[in-house]
Amino acid sequence: MSRIALLPEEVASQVAAGEVVERPASVVKELVENSLDAGATRIEVLVRRGGNSFIRVLDNGWGMDRDDALLCLERHATSKIRTGSDLMAIHTLGFRGEALPSIASVSRFRLATREHGALSGTEVLVNGGKIETVRDSGEPEGTQIEVRSLFYNLPARRKFLRTENTEASHVEHVFQLQAIGHPEVGFTLLNEERLAHQLPPGQTLRERLRDLFGAPLVAELLEIPVNEIAGIRVAGLLGRAGVSRSTRQQQIVFLNGRPIENPTVAHALREGYHTALMKGQHPVTFLSIEMDPAAVDVNVHPAKREVRFRDPALVREVIVEVTRRVLESDRASWSRTFASPAARPVVPEESPPLFPTAEQYSRRPDWPPQPATSETPGGTSSGLAAWKPPEPSDETRAHSPTPATSIAPQPPDAETRFAARTPAGAAMQRSPAAHDFKFIGVLGRLYILMESASGLVLVDQHAAHERILFEEMRRRMEGQGVPTQRLLLPITLQVPPKDADWLHENLESLSRTGIGLEPFGPGTFKIDALPQFLSATEPSQLLRDIIDELRDTSQQTSKLRLGEDMIAKTVCRHAVKANDILREPECLRLVQDLLACELPYCCPHGRPTMIQLTYSELEKKFGRKV
Ligand SMILES: Nc1ncnc2c1ncn2[C@@H]1O[C@H](COP(=O)(O)OP(=O)(O)OP(=O)(O)O)[C@@H](O)[C@H]1O
Ligand SMILES: [Mg+2]
Repeated sequence: MSRIALLPEEVASQVAAGEVVERPASVVKELVENSLDAGATRIEVLVRRGGNSFIRVLDNGWGMDRDDALLCLERHATSKIRTGSDLMAIHTLGFRGEALPSIASVSRFRLATREHGALSGTEVLVNGGKIETVRDSGEPEGTQIEVRSLFYNLPARRKFLRTENTEASHVEHVFQLQAIGHPEVGFTLLNEERLAHQLPPGQTLRERLRDLFGAPLVAELLEIPVNEIAGIRVAGLLGRAGVSRSTRQQQIVFLNGRPIENPTVAHALREGYHTALMKGQHPVTFLSIEMDPAAVDVNVHPAKREVRFRDPALVREVIVEVTRRVLESDRASWSRTFASPAARPVVPEESPPLFPTAEQYSRRPDWPPQPATSETPGGTSSGLAAWKPPEPSDETRAHSPTPATSIAPQPPDAETRFAARTPAGAAMQRSPAAHDFKFIGVLGRLYILMESASGLVLVDQHAAHERILFEEMRRRMEGQGVPTQRLLLPITLQVPPKDADWLHENLESLSRTGIGLEPFGPGTFKIDALPQFLSATEPSQLLRDIIDELRDTSQQTSKLRLGEDMIAKTVCRHAVKANDILREPECLRLVQDLLACELPYCCPHGRPTMIQLTYSELEKKFGRKV
């Protein structure tokens, strides 16, 4: 007895619709994408009851003639691709010829369309996938699609629809994504008869975001100087260091004009922001990536939300690099906020060095010095400068290869690909001596208070010191490696198999961070060296902690990031502690070194290092000004 039967066309469509149409927002997405593909410059979306009862999308695109108006409702009918090879390089948002028949099979559907210049248009009415009426109509040029009673013929699906408010907010999100992706197109959103958004055509991305989210957010965004690296163009706006959200709602990424969710991109952004991002927070990005359509497969997700890159490692490198450059480019304006006319030179000539030498690190596990011993921490020649490799000039520092190029294994051309840093990079390296502050004192043994031209500057001495040490260590890791001290007696470390695998995979990165580690039999490792700046009394415990802390976060991150994480974590323990008392010269030196950092605004964990209370803020607080 044969058991298999072909499904009736109607049922097959409903099955297909299940994948394409999840909720009213998916209908809005598909219809707006069609309008964009049809070259529309104005698109209007109207929803009633969150889209559950009514959705209408109206465009002024090129419209369809009568034959096409009927054909577009057939499955696999599309004007966007012709052959299998076209699938390898898709230039349009649609390509499957699935959306309209799917939507029409699960709703009461009306299509009215008229080609530009045509005498009349066509109206088609469809009920649950069955074409009921086709007639001439006097519609304006363009296309109008109405979708009523979504899932009316699929009660099981209808039950999954949420409240009108929830569905309306999904619709709004989809609408916003499309509007951000195409600021050149005018968009209108009506919820019931209420005007939710009216966005004129021909806007810049900034104008569009200002209209959608308000000026304060836009003020926190930094321009990506349009960058083409290895054939990948990255443009858009990124939140400055410290601007973050607890959800990914505003981590918006477009690939060739299509909003996407992609783990490679998300991780690259994290990695690029890395120390400028607080734990558990997500960056705010409006990022547009454009690349050869042949280098990306968009045909991997039923709602076309995900894509697959042919060379994800390259995409990752480019995004990490661009993000770093953008964050660093904010340095100059950040410094300007705190800059003031000469009040007093920031560092007195005779100031003793704040930082101990490598030797001091190893000799004095109690570093940083307590107040009583901090009087004579060494001669000037044994300061930080003596400990560092020959100080790179400002120029070379601005152009030093980023960690992405020096640690992670790279294709041979990566070096040249990233060698050209932003010209702004060099200009950003302003001499910290240009910033003159008047030292006032230290508050609560933690906050350095200083007077600037615009008011009161507060520096978190612990956060500032972490940032300085972190960058110092990272430079050394990128260079010849962190100086190590050999242990007199090597220690053996027994670990469970999972940790052993992790250690095996990361031996090289660990050794670059100064940890001398060798496999020593199954599940056993020998530690014979540690970074000099670490004064661990229990090296094996320290390593266990590091494994615990890093193993989970390192799954998706590069070797470089692993090293940075390790430094960020270990540095934290050795930075000036909150209540170490610093004297004026040490404070000023700390500020000077902070200002010389690449990302001075925040500590390696993304917390701010320095804030300012301006005179006008003070005046407001004291009621002198309203
Ligand atoms: N607003 C519109 N203006 C002009 N033509 C349209 C419009 N909407 C759809 N079409 C035409 O109808 C065809 C079918 O649309 P449909 O959305 O079903 O498929 P698609 O866009 O080709 O692919 P996908 O299923 O991936 O969206 C399109 O290829 C296009 O030619
Ligand atoms: Mg489509």
